[in-house]
Amino acid sequence: MAFDLSRRFLLTGSAGAAVAGLTACATSTNGEAVAQGAFTPENAAVENPYLLGAPQGVALLSRNENPYGPAQSAKDMIAYAASKGAYYTAQGATEELKAMIAARHGVTPDHIALSTGSGEILSAIALTYGPNGPIVAPRLFWDTTALYAANLGMADIQRIPLTADMEIDLPSMEAAVTESTGAVQLCNPNNPTGLVTPGNTIRAAVARMAAKAPVIVDEAYIELADDEEGTTCVPLIKEGHDVIVTRTFSKLYGMAGIRMGYLIAAPETAAKIQSVVMSWTPSTSIAAAIGSYNDMEFVNYSKAKIVEAREMVTTTLDTLGLEYLPSQTNFVYFKSGKEANAVQQAMADRMISVRGQYMDYNEWTRVSMGFIEDVDKFCRALPEVVA
Ligand SMILES: Cc1ncc(COP(=O)(O)O)c(C=O)c1O
Repeated sequence: MAFDLSRRFLLTGSAGAAVAGLTACATSTNGEAVAQGAFTPENAAVENPYLLGAPQGVALLSRNENPYGPAQSAKDMIAYAASKGAYYTAQGATEELKAMIAARHGVTPDHIALSTGSGEILSAIALTYGPNGPIVAPRLFWDTTALYAANLGMADIQRIPLTADMEIDLPSMEAAVTESTGAVQLCNPNNPTGLVTPGNTIRAAVARMAAKAPVIVDEAYIELADDEEGTTCVPLIKEGHDVIVTRTFSKLYGMAGIRMGYLIAAPETAAKIQSVVMSWTPSTSIAAAIGSYNDMEFVNYSKAKIVEAREMVTTTLDTLGLEYLPSQTNFVYFKSGKEANAVQQAMADRMISVRGQYMDYNEWTRVSMGFIEDVDKFCRALPEVVA
């Protein structure tokens, strides 16, 4: 059983070339040992380095994670919840987390729905609204969940080109929204551009679009924005607009592998979407979220590390004279002047993992922030890679 689990991780894990090489090597040399022994963290790490984080020696800068997480406050709660893992998640814990989230956003807890990462609830949203008409979205956005519904034949994505500056083109999006639109979806800040649409601009446009169709604002990275309060679309929900905001513990909170996300919406919308979310949120995830949600020491530390790393990257890009978009996230999208997939390969050859090409943006590379020493490794490799 334990062996099957680790093998499944190996067979389905995806990563850059360097990472792939490492996992293949781990399979052939260590599979037997794991098959015979217990499934401990130590042999799991040998069998599949990815299971416990980045493979040794690889600077993992491709997935917008925060390696400084989870917070100790989250880990303590996970340990406790794991010790009670025989039991289904207590309703009281779910209610406590909803109450904490609601208090921060100034709404009642019935405005909150929970899921395993925001990806799950965004998929549930896409399945709910996709059949009503096209999902109007920027051409470049985090489209995984809209594609999930599209792949099931339950949604069409109507992509609106970005502006010349790679901003979300809100006027064109507005022009595309009609009474037969299923939903509107956008990310603020956007992924992979990292760009923020300012609060006064986005709120006015979202309010107008929401008069015609539900608007989903994916705020996965908004805690990293310079002015979270001034940027979020949550106030629109309080004003009664048909808006759904999604958030996650995967980014600033460093809990991508723990899986915890949520939405904020009108109570009837939150209840409708909660009823079609597929999984029952694990007690360990809920406990971790409760433990760290108000852990401002961790939050501030993480944000400071991300900003420090971002400044290292932009300083390097400035030195090299390379164009980049001003990011308010834990990643930077820059124009290397080289094929993005070639840059990814050249970085992988140096044990650095960055994202490959998006759509036809063939000269643009997205690099995520990570441990400072890993970002430093990227900064030192970049001049050679783009030479
Ligand atoms: C913009 C955006 N939204 C949502 C997600 C989903 O993250 P999770 O399911 O871990 O909350 C991601 C993941 O990278 C993302 O970039």
